[in-house]
Amino acid sequence: MNAEFENKVALITGAGSGIGRAMAIAFAQQGAKVVVADLDTENAEKTTAEIGEAAIGLSVDISDEAAVDRLVAQSLDAFGRIDVLCNNAGIMDDMALPADTSTDMWDRVLRVNLSGTFLVTRAVLPQMLTQGAGAIVNTASEAGIRGGAAGVAYTASKHGVIGLTKNVAWAYAKEGIRCNAILPGPTLTGIAGPTPNFDPAGSARLQPVLALPASLAEPHQMASVAVFLASEAASFVNGAIVPVDAAWSAA
Ligand SMILES: NC(=O)c1ccc[n+]([C@@H]2O[C@H](COP(=O)([O-])OP(=O)(O)OC[C@H]3O[C@@H](n4cnc5c(N)ncnc54)[C@H](O)[C@@H]3O)[C@@H](O)[C@H]2O)c1
Repeated sequence: MNAEFENKVALITGAGSGIGRAMAIAFAQQGAKVVVADLDTENAEKTTAEIGEAAIGLSVDISDEAAVDRLVAQSLDAFGRIDVLCNNAGIMDDMALPADTSTDMWDRVLRVNLSGTFLVTRAVLPQMLTQGAGAIVNTASEAGIRGGAAGVAYTASKHGVIGLTKNVAWAYAKEGIRCNAILPGPTLTGIAGPTPNFDPAGSARLQPVLALPASLAEPHQMASVAVFLASEAASFVNGAIVPVDAAWSAA
C-alpha cells in the first residue's frame, strides 16, 4: 500500500456506486480512511464492506442542509479530520430541450448537482480551514463545458459546478485549500440507466455531440485522477478543470 494518504481522511459523496465507489476504493488503497456517503444506504454499506475497517458508510441526501451538517459531524466524530472532499454525487436530467424541461426536473437536478455540491463544500470548509489544508475534487462533466452533451438542467448544473470550483479555489488558495474538478467522459456506471421521462426529441438534438467518437471509461480511470488531484504531486494545481475523456472534448 502507498502511504500517501496514511492518516488522512477522504469524504466521498455518491460513493455507493460508479465513480464515487471507485474513488472510495482508490483512496483506501492509498492508505486513507474513507467516509462512504450516499443517498442509497444499502450501496453505501456495500462499498464500505468492500473496503473494510478503514471505511464508514453514512447515509445522506446532499441536497438537504441538515443532513449534510449531520454527515460532516458524524465524519468528524469517526475520524477527527477531513483532508479530502470528493463532491461526486449527481443525477442526470431527462435530456429534454429547454422549452420542454419541467420546473420539477430543473429544481431537482440543480438542487442535487449544484446546491448539494455547495452545501457539502460549505460544511467541510471550516474543518479544512482549521487544519490549514485540504483538497476538494468536484465531479463535473463534459456538459459543464459544452452546450450539447445533456439536457438544460444537467448542463446548467455542471457549468455551475465549474464556477463553484474556481471560486472556492480562488477564495482559499492562501489557506492551503485546493479545489479542482474532473470532467468525466462517458463512463460505465449506474447513471446511464433508465431515466424517468427520457425525452427522445431532446436526445436527438444532442446527437452531434453524443455521436462524437467516445471511449467508454471504467470508473477507476476517473478515480485515479481524483487521487492525483488530491495528492501532494498536484500541490500547485488549483482551480483546474480536467477533462478525463480520452480526447472526446478535444474533437
Ligand atoms: N457516468 C458518466 O458517464 C458521467 C459522465 C460525466 C459526469 N458524471 C458525473 O459523475 C458523478 C457520479 O456519477 P456516476 O456516473 O458514478 O453515477 P451513479 O449513478 O453510478 O452514482 C451516483 C451516486 O450518487 C448518489 N446520489 C444521487 N443523488 C444523491 C443525493 N442527493 N445525495 C447523496 N447521494 C446521491 C447515487 O445514489 C449514486 O450512488 C455524477 O456527478 C455525474 O454527473 C458521470
